[in-house]
Amino acid sequence: MSLREKVIIVTGGTSGIGEGCTRHFAGQGARVVVASNQAEAGAKLETELRAAGHEVRFVFTDVADESSVAALMRRTQELHGRIDGIHCNAGVWAAGKVTEFDEAVWTKVMNVNVKSVFWTAKHAVPVMEKQGGGVIVITTSVAAFVGFPSHALYCASKAALEALIRCLAVDHAGKVRVVGVCPGTIDTPMLAATCAGWNKPVNELYADVARRIPVRRLGQPLDVAHAAAFLLSDEAGYINGTSLVLDGGTMALPPW
Ligand SMILES: NC(=O)c1ccc[n+]([C@@H]2O[C@H](COP(=O)([O-])OP(=O)(O)OC[C@H]3O[C@@H](n4cnc5c(N)ncnc54)[C@H](O)[C@@H]3O)[C@@H](O)[C@H]2O)c1
Repeated sequence: MSLREKVIIVTGGTSGIGEGCTRHFAGQGARVVVASNQAEAGAKLETELRAAGHEVRFVFTDVADESSVAALMRRTQELHGRIDGIHCNAGVWAAGKVTEFDEAVWTKVMNVNVKSVFWTAKHAVPVMEKQGGGVIVITTSVAAFVGFPSHALYCASKAALEALIRCLAVDHAGKVRVVGVCPGTIDTPMLAATCAGWNKPVNELYADVARRIPVRRLGQPLDVAHAAAFLLSDEAGYINGTSLVLDGGTMALPPW
């Protein structure tokens, strides 16, 4: 299994799961284009990984903006002449019941989590079809399958991605594979943000959560990176239109 010389874009590649993927794909010999809206972190990561001998470039991108996504695809082709894989991983989180959201929050979450993947596929699929193949990996969430209390918007956005994976896979089969990574609880800045407002320190909350996960630990970004690297590789060539759940067994528990 190898990503050697493959040109891979990672959106949200400067933090959490995406940063873990950037580091792991680069370590596997991929030419990684890191795309996010974190300019400072992106420049720092590019400098660090290039100094270590990896072919990594940061491209500032707002994934919710079609022109920014189109520019990312153009820049990647200028740099490397092709796009072998894209990990659509950028995402935002918001808590609340439907009675509590205003339209601005709804629009932001749906634009960053869902519309971004439409734009990415719209501008990447023609490139991949023309060059003879490519893979799109999309980070969804177990939130697509269970009703997390007070997470209606986030859950709906991730469920939309699960549907989109199937549709893209069917529409573009033959040249483009589309698959999902579906994480459970992964130790990232986003997870830490979800702990704000609880009546316990984050480390105690994490310990409580870890006790309820069958493998007895939180997931780490590298757990997702290992799976995404496999799904992006040629060895995963028969995996299409589905998602790989990475939750330490949580979804396998009985619901009582
Ligand atoms: N951490 C978890 O437990 C968990 C579980 C399931 C799914 N996920 C999903 O994994 C993905 C990564 O989450 P994370 O936990 O690493 O969070 P994170 O907050 O550490 O990283 C999110 C990344 O998305 C980028 N981003 C946000 N809005 C953007 C925009 N408009 N344009 C470009 N980039 C943008 C951020 O800059 C950042 O790099 C998200 O899609 C999230 O929904 C996370």
